[in-house]
Amino acid sequence: MAFKHKDILGLQDLTAEEIELLLNTADNMKEISKREIKKVPALRGKTVVNLFYEPSTRTRTSFEVAAKRLSADTLNIAASTSAVQKGETLLDTARNIEAMKPDIIVMRHAISGAHEYLAKRASFSVINAGDGSHEHPSQALLDMMTMREKLGTIKGLKVAIVGDITHSRVARSNIYGLSKMGAEIFLAGPPTLIPPGVERLGNITVCSKMKDAVEGADVIMMLRIQLERQGKSLLPSMREYARYFGLSEDLVKLAKPGVLVMHPGPMNRGVEICSSVADGANSVILEQVENGVAVRMSMLYHVSGGGPTE
Ligand code: CP
Repeated sequence: MAFKHKDILGLQDLTAEEIELLLNTADNMKEISKREIKKVPALRGKTVVNLFYEPSTRTRTSFEVAAKRLSADTLNIAASTSAVQKGETLLDTARNIEAMKPDIIVMRHAISGAHEYLAKRASFSVINAGDGSHEHPSQALLDMMTMREKLGTIKGLKVAIVGDITHSRVARSNIYGLSKMGAEIFLAGPPTLIPPGVERLGNITVCSKMKDAVEGADVIMMLRIQLERQGKSLLPSMREYARYFGLSEDLVKLAKPGVLVMHPGPMNRGVEICSSVADGANSVILEQVENGVAVRMSMLYHVSGGGPTE
């Protein structure tokens, strides 16, 4: 099947078949990063712009590496050092970049829906690298790629997602993607950080205790507390949060043997996850980062009309 979308704004918009196509292509792309010459000509002559209005380590770097491995020309614009600081609007910035004829803009923005606004007005493709508390599709795709690679399938997996669900774009994209791929999702977090009615978004059970979410889990995905998105303090203290919703070695023992421990990063060691678990035998956190390059190569390839791969 061919990928028919100009943009990738979120996993809510994609079918299970389209997600599978992106994951299959990512599996193939991963091999390129193991070659001595880590480059193929798939995007030769194309220009990819990384436009980041929020900080990023993994996503920005990984999209740049991915574009370069596909032979695209890349450039990075950080809002903190651009004319945005002088009051330029998103649309004016985009129109000025558009005048330089880019093919794909990879954008991170603090406002949910900023990408949809831009994609409707732009001739270039838009890939969402995170919009507010809405979606972070490349993160969920790399999470699913890692689950499939390690456990053979996504269908039927019990996936516990723990932490600040309300403000997490990683949680939302995983909820859409994992539900479409047939996983069961168990959410846990402080009641102030679980949005009412979240069950309606997918194949979800909400647990009041973390223990109930991780018991028998195939995957435990820990989330960072998004203090920058919380208007007021929604937690009594970080110490109390760590006590009730931090991942300890004892909690890992309640999950299935061989459970995958995941975290999208950046991690707050000693808050949502203790160091011995983050660096322990079940942790696949750095494998998630490795798969991020392959998934982003797949996304860039398909929005530029790549079609099916061998
Ligand atoms: N997971 C993630 O989005 O990390 P960055 O904020 O470093 O890109």
